[in-house]
Amino acid sequence: MTDNQQVSGSYWIQTAPGDRYPALTDDLDVDVAVIGGGIAGLCTARELARAGRSVAVLEAGRIAAGVTGHTTAKITALHTLVYDKLRRTRGAEGARLYARSQAEAIEHTADLVSELGIDCDWERRSAYTFVRDAGRVEELRAEARAAREAGLPASFVTDTGLPFPVAGAVEVTGQAQFHPRAYLLALARDLAAHGGHIHEDTTVLGLDEGEPCRVSTANGATVTARDVVVATHYPVFDRALLFARLSPRRELVVAGTLPAGRDPGGMYITPDENTRSVRTAPYGEDGTRRLLVVTGEHFTPGTGDTRAGFERLAAWAREHFPDVELTHRWATQDTTPTDTVPLVGPLHHGARHAYVATGFNGWGMSGGMMAGLLLTAQITGEECAWSGLYDPRRLKPAVREAPSFLRTQAEVARHFVGDRLRPSPPVESLPPGEGAVVRADGHRLAVYRDEDGSLHAVSARCTHLGCLVDFNAAERAWECPCHGSRFDTDGKVIQGPATKPLEQREI
Ligand code: FES
Repeated sequence: MTDNQQVSGSYWIQTAPGDRYPALTDDLDVDVAVIGGGIAGLCTARELARAGRSVAVLEAGRIAAGVTGHTTAKITALHTLVYDKLRRTRGAEGARLYARSQAEAIEHTADLVSELGIDCDWERRSAYTFVRDAGRVEELRAEARAAREAGLPASFVTDTGLPFPVAGAVEVTGQAQFHPRAYLLALARDLAAHGGHIHEDTTVLGLDEGEPCRVSTANGATVTARDVVVATHYPVFDRALLFARLSPRRELVVAGTLPAGRDPGGMYITPDENTRSVRTAPYGEDGTRRLLVVTGEHFTPGTGDTRAGFERLAAWAREHFPDVELTHRWATQDTTPTDTVPLVGPLHHGARHAYVATGFNGWGMSGGMMAGLLLTAQITGEECAWSGLYDPRRLKPAVREAPSFLRTQAEVARHFVGDRLRPSPPVESLPPGEGAVVRADGHRLAVYRDEDGSLHAVSARCTHLGCLVDFNAAERAWECPCHGSRFDTDGKVIQGPATKPLEQREI
């Protein structure tokens, strides 16, 4: 583990650097434009290309390098504790459709890995949700029952293979894990081989939902398309104000190697201790070691002490897997919908040719594939049994989700107002590598001092809806607590929903 407490970067990205795709410079005319080159965007584009549609993927950075490149990459239908809740909020049929849609996505991915011969460390494993607190065992038993009734091969167990005792766990057999970037880069190559256009470094600025739709880009080129899919994690176009039904959640990851004989053999998650998620992956050529990946310590972007979070997570990994040699730390970001069900389908009530895929709640591997299949069915006019479950226009659940919705909005309001009242530290006291929001001439500035001692100042006002950003010291980024936009120390957008950089300021 690095001693300077900075992130080392994602193991998945470092071990699969990938191909480069050109920025879009000329106008393009296609059947479908897909905005966002993560798992949801690439799966949707590839399915549409296979269905005979001409497709263009427009990615602001590099494909499979955003949230998808930082995930833990478990592909499972067991989503911590979701089925008992779904049974109560969406009925037995809703829970069954959720399970079936996720299970089909997993099997479709398995088929693609086999059909295309993708070398992505695909491994079948049981998935477990465990608790160590005996007081939560009944909750786990109820989840196992609900998951089984929803059609999954689920059972309540106490033996998990973990090197420490648990009070109980839900086990779902036959799930999988893989190297997410190796898989998606191969999928992108298949898409390109079938005539799909892929453009990196292409930031989309505008969407005109006419017939045809027009997508304008920062490079000056325009894409004309019959249909448009917005698959940008948090939607960058959002007439239905979906952002108000989504909460951003940032999660830390530590990884390192351990002897292959210490592999617990499954994929694990617990809601205890601010979430702990564990998996392993093949490592090296001789098979003597495995990569251990531990995730947890979630927090709202722009809040909390990220360095302390990394230390707690690393300490947990060392305590529970004493043989581990930690080498990597990075972070990922998820969006949680107020009713926990992803939003996949028409972008808003009046949308005829614009679609969205968002809110995977940390389960984007199966969710992204599910979205690809669902949106392809909708765009090609096929029936899909779970369209209604994931429809972003759903109204009744919106009533059910009212308490959660109000909580989310209260949190945003608290940041919008409260963060402006925070005391301003003196710039002189800022050490190298640190950043702070300071007040100058009645404005809030986000000021970062680099390792050479030079100050970099940008407006602290997030370009999405105006909340104040705060500094993440471990990742050296400005983060917005309201909807999770992230910016580098010079204000450039790392992650939306913001599409414009923080304004430059003098200091
Ligand atoms: Fe919405 Fe910053 S991300 S205000």
